[in-house]
Amino acid sequence: MNFYTRKWVKPEDLNPNGSLFGGTLLRWIDEEAVIYAIVQLGNPHVVTKYISEINFVSSAKQGDIIELGIEAIHFGNTSLTMRCEVRNKISRKTILSIDKLVFVNLDPEGNPVPHGRTEITYAYMGIERDVKKRD
Ligand SMILES: CC(C)(COP(=O)(O)OP(=O)(O)OC[C@H]1O[C@@H](n2cnc3c(N)ncnc32)[C@H](O)[C@@H]1OP(=O)(O)O)[C@@H](O)C(=O)NCCC(=O)NCCS
Repeated sequence: MNFYTRKWVKPEDLNPNGSLFGGTLLRWIDEEAVIYAIVQLGNPHVVTKYISEINFVSSAKQGDIIELGIEAIHFGNTSLTMRCEVRNKISRKTILSIDKLVFVNLDPEGNPVPHGRTEITYAYMGIERDVKKRD
């Protein structure tokens, strides 16, 4: 799993108890996952269809640096299923895990359309590139 995005937890990201607000984290994850799906499927018209059980394993606090990891686990006909893990960048302690996020590939009219992809690639709009694992 690649952890592409890092976030620095700031005061506006907190809940009234002083830890990272779950809704804020879910917004970050949804955006991270849709970008991953767009790149994998080579189509900017993809939508969130289904998110499985969300396990908030541990909390993050102001000043923490966290990183968001997404990995494709199943290429369907029109869908892409991913899993997600969020962890503390420094301690590597898991903050959240989601087993399944399903996104659907759409045509310009908003109808599901086969994407034709079967495995993880790092090509977008025909541009192939190597992606090295980041620290
Ligand atoms: C996405 C949408 C067009 C799909 O329509 P639909 O009638 O469910 O389409 P289908 O039944 O053909 O399913 C499409 C794919 O989603 C999968 N799917 C549907 N319901 C699912 C569910 N509950 N869990 C997992 N996958 C599901 C199907 O298996 C299919 O995948 P496949 O083609 O790879 O086999 C429609 O549900 C929609 O517009 N939803 C709102 C999306 C949205 O606004 N998201 C943002 C939310 S804030």
